Amino acid sequence: MNESLPLVVANFKANKDWQSLDSWLEEIESTQQAFTGTIIVCPSFPFLAKASEKIESKNLKIKLGAQDVSRFGEGAFTGEVAASQIEAYCKYAIIGHSERRQNFKESEQDLSDKVQNAKNSNIEPIFCVQGKENEIPDGVKIVAYEPVFAIGTGNPDSPENAQEVAQVIKASGDYTVLYGGSVTAKNTATFLKSGTIDGVLVGSSSLNSSDFAKIIEAS
Ligand code: PGA
Repeated sequence: MNESLPLVVANFKANKDWQSLDSWLEEIESTQQAFTGTIIVCPSFPFLAKASEKIESKNLKIKLGAQDVSRFGEGAFTGEVAASQIEAYCKYAIIGHSERRQNFKESEQDLSDKVQNAKNSNIEPIFCVQGKENEIPDGVKIVAYEPVFAIGTGNPDSPENAQEVAQVIKASGDYTVLYGGSVTAKNTATFLKSGTIDGVLVGSSSLNSSDFAKIIEAS
């Protein structure tokens, strides 16, 4: 792993236009400067290029991630975004989020193809699993444990259970393991304090820059 830990990932899902993302980056500037871990922000595809220009011009330490990549390469795949089309703008991609597994019926084979395509474009997958039983494709280094009951519900997993799952995942390979699901500034430290969990993946509480700044400060 090249990233300094903890890793704090913001998953904006299908939220924000360019203007609000631009302001968010401005608002987070001083907090991110002082942080010794790694911040990865995952906006929607249309904003990756402009966000990467902004990060470079302001010399921010923030890294960018996509929220998905196609399981196909470039070609006749209407509506898809191939990993090779975004590799200039982002070094990470969330793959296997439960919202995609459920709403887009992504299979284990789809996910392993996506991981392969990302790796071929030097994009590091942040591979989401919903429990200990999920398969983790070859090549994955960063795994996010995100139990479905905890996502967007305000009902996080217990730190003890999340740590136990992280331990099982780590026993199966050399993984950096994140926890995601109703992470807030108040509970962030409870997940990170044992050192078994290497970071957090944040949805709802990442949208507001001051909420997210508090999560960074608590990490
Ligand atoms: P949440 O989402 O923080 O809103 O629960 C987490 C995620 O889906 O990555």
